[in-house]
Amino acid sequence: MVRKMLQNVKSWWGYWKKKNNLIVKLGIGLVLLGICFRMLYSRSSGFEDVSEDPFIIRDNAESSAHTVFSNAPDETYDVPSKVATLPEERGGKCDIFDGNWIPNPAGPVYSNDTCNIIEKHQNCMTNGREDTGYLYWRWSPRDCELPQLDAERFLEIMRNKRWALIGDSISRNHVQSLLCILSKVEEAVLVYHDEGWKSRRWLFPSYNFTISVIWSPFLAEAAIYEDINGVSTHDVELHLDKLDMNWTALYQSLDYVIFSSGKWYVKSAIYYEHNKEVGCHKCTKRKLTELEYGFAYRKVLNKVFNHVIASNHKGVTFYRTSTPDHFENGTWSTGGTCKRTEPAKEGDFELSELNQVLHKIELEEFRKASAKASKKGVKLKLFDVTSLSLLRPDGHPGPYRFFQPFVKDRNAKVINDCLHWCLPGPIDSWNDLLMEMVVNG
Ligand SMILES: *[C@@H]1O[C@H](CO)[C@@H](O)[C@H](O)[C@H]1NC(C)=O
Ligand SMILES: *[C@@H]1O[C@H](CO)[C@@H](O)[C@H](O)[C@H]1NC(C)=O
Ligand SMILES: *[C@@H]1O[C@H](CO)[C@@H](O)[C@H](O)[C@H]1NC(C)=O
Ligand SMILES: *[C@@H]1O[C@H](CO)[C@@H](O)[C@H](O)[C@H]1NC(C)=O
Repeated sequence: MVRKMLQNVKSWWGYWKKKNNLIVKLGIGLVLLGICFRMLYSRSSGFEDVSEDPFIIRDNAESSAHTVFSNAPDETYDVPSKVATLPEERGGKCDIFDGNWIPNPAGPVYSNDTCNIIEKHQNCMTNGREDTGYLYWRWSPRDCELPQLDAERFLEIMRNKRWALIGDSISRNHVQSLLCILSKVEEAVLVYHDEGWKSRRWLFPSYNFTISVIWSPFLAEAAIYEDINGVSTHDVELHLDKLDMNWTALYQSLDYVIFSSGKWYVKSAIYYEHNKEVGCHKCTKRKLTELEYGFAYRKVLNKVFNHVIASNHKGVTFYRTSTPDHFENGTWSTGGTCKRTEPAKEGDFELSELNQVLHKIELEEFRKASAKASKKGVKLKLFDVTSLSLLRPDGHPGPYRFFQPFVKDRNAKVINDCLHWCLPGPIDSWNDLLMEMVVNG
């Protein structure tokens, strides 16, 4: 009798879940929008002042959530949690992006005490995160060994070379991980930053090796209107046919480039071609043809790849795929958190609709470009961290993007960051993968 009742409840639940799939997706859309409005908008460090007025953000997110959702293509994407990139695209027999996280008792090679360039919002140790289990894992490909980045060897290989990571705040997060790992051998010296500290360049003096992070969240030319809190006062004006000169001007002088983009594309934007408005995404005040963000992202990616192929660039160009967030039990603006303390099992998390759309476009455009690039001898590689990052819900700052958030009040309500990554943290493994691709790719 009891069993029967349980069965009924189960099947009812299954039915209900299906019916509500749409609502869940809408929720996910909301989360991502929220993040985009706030975290990725903000100036130098991703998050300044987020907690000041969450309601502005929520209003923005809510009013636009519906559009984002309805703009998502109708077909269901079967981009699975295990991404179907072909191993030969990574230039080897072993697909180093297919594997799992294994215990790493040695822990990270740097800490908040030894590396002083960790963005304060991602400095989980200093900010008081108490659990440390998330630090003791490393990525292990299924079919081969992945050594940890050997800082001395890496710097030796990079003597007189120039690197740049080009993209949004996750690129900044990534570059800081790399600099911290290398700091074991030599500390990087900051030699340049722009006015807003969005673009920066570091030099390793003994190696004459420079690493830059170049702020270019769309990769294309864009006018972005935002106030100090990251609240936009005007739709983004995005030129789909013009690449951002902030990186094109430097591209030829670089030996290694890692591009990345994606999340900023869900923002309200007016799209231009030949300096004329051709449509917009979620523009409320204007009567323009609504174009989905995927349309714009695909167009710009295509242009980026064509630029890479046409450039006869002698170095190596990577495209890093977009990374997922892990908000649970709510959105970022409704108390969503990421409290897990260890990696997830495959299948625990699904890629959000947004991430599926972005990832699909990235893979498709890369595949098209890759064939052309290899014909021309241009080195273009996919750096596909999407699914391995999905397995690390435990690696985000959560409330610890603020300094000691619970010292005064154990029950303080803080907005969580479940998008960027703690340093040290999971994205340190991205650099093991990079080294592998540089040496053996
Ligand atoms: C690093 O984090 C520890 C706690 O994990 C803290 O005691 C220490 O003060 C921090 N160091 C710095 C330089 O912030
Ligand atoms: C440093 O590297 C740059 C290329 O990145 C090169 O043009 C320059 O000559 C190098 N300087 C020295 C002193 O080797
Ligand atoms: C390029 O950088 C300058 C200065 O940092 C900035 O004003 C401009 O908006 C940037 N261009 C784009 C397309 O982001
Ligand atoms: C979500 O809520 C459930 C049930 O209250 C709880 O067990 C779980 O730990 C929560 N997850 C997070 C990430 O907060």
